[in-house]
Amino acid sequence: MAKFITPQLVDRFGRHINYLRLSVTDRCDLRCAYCIPEGFKGFEEPEHWLDFDEIERLLGLFAGLGLKRVRLTGGEPLLRRDVVGLCRRLARLPGIEDLSMSTNATQLADVAMALRQAGVHRLNVSLDSLRREAVARINGRDVLPRVLAGLEASAAAGFSPIKVNMVVMQENAADVDDMVAFCMERGYVLRLIELMPMGDTARRMGYVDLQPVKTRLQARFGLVDRMLPGGGPARYLGSTDGRFSVGFITPLSQHFCATCNRVRLTVDGVLHLCLGQEERLDFRALMRAGASDAELVQAIHRAIDLKPERHEFQEQPRKLVRFMNMTGG
Ligand code: GTP
Ligand code: 5AD
Ligand code: SF4
Repeated sequence: MAKFITPQLVDRFGRHINYLRLSVTDRCDLRCAYCIPEGFKGFEEPEHWLDFDEIERLLGLFAGLGLKRVRLTGGEPLLRRDVVGLCRRLARLPGIEDLSMSTNATQLADVAMALRQAGVHRLNVSLDSLRREAVARINGRDVLPRVLAGLEASAAAGFSPIKVNMVVMQENAADVDDMVAFCMERGYVLRLIELMPMGDTARRMGYVDLQPVKTRLQARFGLVDRMLPGGGPARYLGSTDGRFSVGFITPLSQHFCATCNRVRLTVDGVLHLCLGQEERLDFRALMRAGASDAELVQAIHRAIDLKPERHEFQEQPRKLVRFMNMTGG
């Protein structure tokens, strides 16, 4: 009997593309120095935002081509009106096994339960320090108490794992141990991230090499290699009792492009093939010009063929003028 095989998206380098990061807005209530600079004015016009029908149509076609994971990002995804309704629609798409969101958690306390009920499986929360003044400085607003309330609400709503994303810079490098203790105590997965040179401000800030941090934490807590639910670029270490895990996202010191499985759809409907490169295809233009489903599927294949081998953050740090809020991390 013939076996039904879901078509796959495979790029020129043999990488299977099964993860799409969907930016639902480029706006944010924070001004993290490494993401959107204070005074940024280049936000996308609302008439260019894909509406929920357009998003559902396009992601449905991707799902028919083997897409399994969707992560909502921003800007801050919780700022998009009725994002819970969008999650409900995406969670129902056949083939999507993992629906997740990356959020700054300032609004999370109010909606964590609704997100869970809508079918969101996993949450990743940004938190760069446990010092209130440091958060106000790095993230541009005095929001630490609200973020902590958001984290508590997501645990109470039953999300597991909850991953805490910390971008490590000179300014907060000394906070890593406090973050480890905090996450250990509460059962969150800590992820340490090297800052990527997206836009002028992030480029000026520079990154902290996480390899020595990894070696130090490994020795101090006796950590061993660990696999975790996800599909992203983090490499994990964990305690032998299984109660604590820490992930390292090292685009600069040890990049992971050879195993890249993802593409990014921006709020204006442009598919970006790599976080660190310019290759893209405008699906909004195609959809609004009346493209059929078959034409869109062809365009998806054409786009995947454009996916570059890797970023060039080290070789060409000035290449990218785009800020992180535009591509959604
Ligand atoms: P999981 O599905 O939980 O593994 O999520 P994730 O780590 O892929 O997503 P998240 O939004 O939490 O991103 C964490 C960090 O990884 C952010 O700094 C992202 O910018 C970065 N990141 C995610 N995907 C890529 C990628 O493909 N390339 C690069 N260079 N960085 C990425
Ligand atoms: N480099 C690395 N990570 C970044 N993020 C935002 N901007 C950058 C950058 N320039 C992270 C945020 C969030 C995730 C989605 O992306 O901290 O956790
Ligand atoms: Fe993939 Fe580009 Fe990220 Fe490398 S930088 S992992 S190729 S998206």
